[in-house]
Amino acid sequence: MILISGRGSNMEAIVKACKAEGWPAEVAAVVSNRPDAGGLQFAAAHGIATAVVDHKAYGSREDFDAELARVIDGFSPDLVVLAGFMRILTPGFTARYARRMLNIHPSLLPAFTGLHTHERAIEMGCKVAGVTVHFVTAELDHGAIVMQAAVPVLAGDDAKSLSARVLTAEHRIYPQSVRWFVEDALVWSGEVVSHRSGAAQHLFLS
Ligand code: GRF
Repeated sequence: MILISGRGSNMEAIVKACKAEGWPAEVAAVVSNRPDAGGLQFAAAHGIATAVVDHKAYGSREDFDAELARVIDGFSPDLVVLAGFMRILTPGFTARYARRMLNIHPSLLPAFTGLHTHERAIEMGCKVAGVTVHFVTAELDHGAIVMQAAVPVLAGDDAKSLSARVLTAEHRIYPQSVRWFVEDALVWSGEVVSHRSGAAQHLFLS
């Protein structure tokens, strides 16, 4: 089950990898909080069920999250994948899907939680930027880290060029992370998660 709000390029990467690599899983549905999310068309064209839960139709986050949970649970997914899903979720919602909901965030967490990560990394003079796949907890952009990719910040970069470089990394580590989950390859040690074989959980792109 994949939740999106926009173009859905990470969702596309996961759908394609799932099919091409023959994962022991399928994408049950793609749900958007925006009716105009571009990714919905890709999903429908690939025979994946789609649904829209428009946040504008709900008076509170609790009401929106309740309907979202009802729609999600109708598909009985093992895993909920947030892929560019731009809504802050209530603690009740995150608790419901604890240890079975992933998010991708375009920074090397714990640096740069929240929005405008690339602008802020450039403003700070960061020499390395990147992306993190993590389990979702009640605290925004926190939760156990599954995988990270680092990319260089190059002279002359702006948010657009840096985000394009990071996106390439996103499309590699998000499918990999989801695959590890569906293969039951992730093991918990307290609040930390790692691959059971000790496989590298990072990627450096140059
Ligand atoms: C990605 O940069 C992701 O890291 C962030 O939102 C963007 C979504 O892009 N959370 P897409 O919809 O997957 O193309």
